[in-house]
Amino acid sequence: MEHDINTPLPEDLPEVQQVYNLACPASPVHYQYDRVKTALTCSLGTLNLLNKAARDKARFFQASTSEIYGDPEVHPQTESYRGNVNTVGPRSCYDEGKRFAETLVTDFGVQHGLTTRIVRIFNTYGPRMHPDDGRVVSNFIVQALMGEDITIYGSGEQTRSFCFVDDLVEGFIRLMNTNDGIDGPVNIGNPQETTVNQLAEQILQMAGSRSRIVHHPLPVDDPRRRKPDISRALQQLNWSPQVPLQDGLARTIAYFMDEMSRSGRKSTNAFAS
Ligand SMILES: NC(=O)c1ccc[n+]([C@@H]2O[C@H](COP(=O)([O-])OP(=O)(O)OC[C@H]3O[C@@H](n4cnc5c(N)ncnc54)[C@H](O)[C@@H]3O)[C@@H](O)[C@H]2O)c1
Repeated sequence: MEHDINTPLPEDLPEVQQVYNLACPASPVHYQYDRVKTALTCSLGTLNLLNKAARDKARFFQASTSEIYGDPEVHPQTESYRGNVNTVGPRSCYDEGKRFAETLVTDFGVQHGLTTRIVRIFNTYGPRMHPDDGRVVSNFIVQALMGEDITIYGSGEQTRSFCFVDDLVEGFIRLMNTNDGIDGPVNIGNPQETTVNQLAEQILQMAGSRSRIVHHPLPVDDPRRRKPDISRALQQLNWSPQVPLQDGLARTIAYFMDEMSRSGRKSTNAFAS
């Protein structure tokens, strides 16, 4: 069904055993479009889904984010690091919203006797991303294939760690289904750290593109470094990412080339027919 989680779910839905809450505007362009709604989706929306889980005595899974670490002073980020987040900046509706959601899910679980799981997702990419939602991997690939300028915010020396979507989903399923006691949130991400400049160069080369790189001012509160410590996922779920960046990018570039030829958007890369 299609439903805005900010309104309560209908009472007559079939009973479920598990609730995965991934619903939230997720890219800066989307979550800053209506900041109040984003904050409410994390809070009220999450509560509406928790109520459904309580009615059905279902397990509850919350998609949290590395953004809860803000612009981190600890590197790599362990789950015990409490973060460095601005409460009143343009990213706060999302960062603080997701922090509050972690609190709500944890406390609701304790008060209602529910099993809850919280995953802190680090930048994830892969086929079926939306071409226009403003994430760095999809932005660079689309720009490279269209022969447009590659826009880097700031110097490009800020780092990110990119996880391929199949690895992430495997981590979700393990975390949700393990019956071993999981104590608190779990980082899921790929610890291979790369600068934004390196990512741009790699995509340009793999896409056979002649696009130029241009720099724009860094957005407010943009994190300078980001890399997950995944020891907890490794120990408790025996999970680690299997898809190297090169392979994941190849699959994602192939997807966007396919989509662009299907939709008639003109690719100018050297490999396009
Ligand atoms: N992709 C990443 O790198 C990443 C990183 C950290 C956290 N996350 C989290 O993972 C989840 C999924 O992200 P994604 O990358 O697949 O983004 P996405 O934009 O592809 O998916 C988010 C979905 O949530 C839906 N949604 C938003 N508000 C809603 C509402 N009020 N009611 C019902 N549905 C609503 C959107 O329609 C969309 O389908 C999000 O919660 C996001 O915060 C993603």
